[in-house]
Amino acid sequence: MSQRLQNDLLIRACRREPIPRTPVWIMRQAGRYLPEYQKVRAKVDFLTLCRTPELAAEVTLQPVDILGVDAAIIFSDILVIPEAMGMDLNFFEGRGPVFERPLRNEKDIEALSPVDVEEKLTYVFESIKRVRTELAGHVPIIGFAGAPWTLAAYMIEGHGSKDFTQIKTLMYTRPELLKTLLDKLSTVVADFLIGQIKAGAGVVQIFDSWAGILMPEYYRLFSLPYLNKVVRRVKQHGAPIIVFAREAGHSVEALAAIGVDVLSISWREDLAEIKKRVNGRAALQGNLDPCALFAPVERIKAEVINVLEKAGKGSGHIFNLGHGILPQTPVQHAQAMVQFVKEESPKFHEQK
Ligand code: CP3
Repeated sequence: MSQRLQNDLLIRACRREPIPRTPVWIMRQAGRYLPEYQKVRAKVDFLTLCRTPELAAEVTLQPVDILGVDAAIIFSDILVIPEAMGMDLNFFEGRGPVFERPLRNEKDIEALSPVDVEEKLTYVFESIKRVRTELAGHVPIIGFAGAPWTLAAYMIEGHGSKDFTQIKTLMYTRPELLKTLLDKLSTVVADFLIGQIKAGAGVVQIFDSWAGILMPEYYRLFSLPYLNKVVRRVKQHGAPIIVFAREAGHSVEALAAIGVDVLSISWREDLAEIKKRVNGRAALQGNLDPCALFAPVERIKAEVINVLEKAGKGSGHIFNLGHGILPQTPVQHAQAMVQFVKEESPKFHEQK
């Protein structure tokens, strides 16, 4: 469903078409660092917020107004998929997400329900439709999902982890069983992203937040093939695809080769080096250190310019942080970052 956009910088940057300046948005831009978000969150718990389209739409739009970013990312979570597959999900203050009964064996994996996304995840599509109406084409909407590998890691560990011993034990002892789970997840992730595009998302991002826990050769066995399945299906629906494979700089060429339009680069990587290696086969997104927003404003400006210089001249760069914005971030500093990108980036787009 295409609607004429007033600001389509993000879409054009994804396609590496000429643009007057670099577009900017922030991963986790709707969140606890915003007092306006805290106010809505004080009334309802996190999952209720995700499941109430009226409220989800309200917090989705907050950073568009407050920061002046070039996109709205729909408010939801990557873990709504495992929840839709029948897993019991809880969010505890200060502890993050927890599955009470993580997957441990064949029976657990077989018991996962097939997901009709139109039935189980309609609330996300409803949120997108609402945001779309309210934005009236002002900026594009980004839909998203977790990568099969990252979702599997949460489902098997039960929560975030330092060593990921459970999923890695399964990988080394019963790789075929793990692949069965990853296959199931690929289908749901693709269905879900396609549903979001149909509801009005103009771009989709896949979060492979736990990409970095795999050795490169295992990344190619347990994450890439499933991203490939997702990308192959979603591509047919026209929206550009961004993949954030955190700390998987080793696989940027491989990700570009499966047809990912934009590689979102984590803050630990050198953007200039990645750009050289990708060599025009994909656009790049990133990658300011989220902690740079704790610096004084003048220093933030220098850090923004540093990222723009590493991204270099021409289209094909989307400014973002190299991971999600942190809850302690001063709002004025996030605003300043967005403003600096708008002021400093046009010279990187001048045509000779
Ligand atoms: O970017 C956005 O503004 C859209 C919304 C969004 C959320 N989560 C909302 C959220 C997005 C894109 C996500 C993605 C997500 N969720 C990821 C991938 C990105 C990454 O950071 O690597 C992951 C790993 C999750 C799982 C998750 N959800 C965790 C680990 C946590 C707890 C940590 C935290 O930040 O509180 C959440 C909760 C969560 N998801 C919150 C928000 C705004 C905080 C909830 C609250 O207390 O209000």
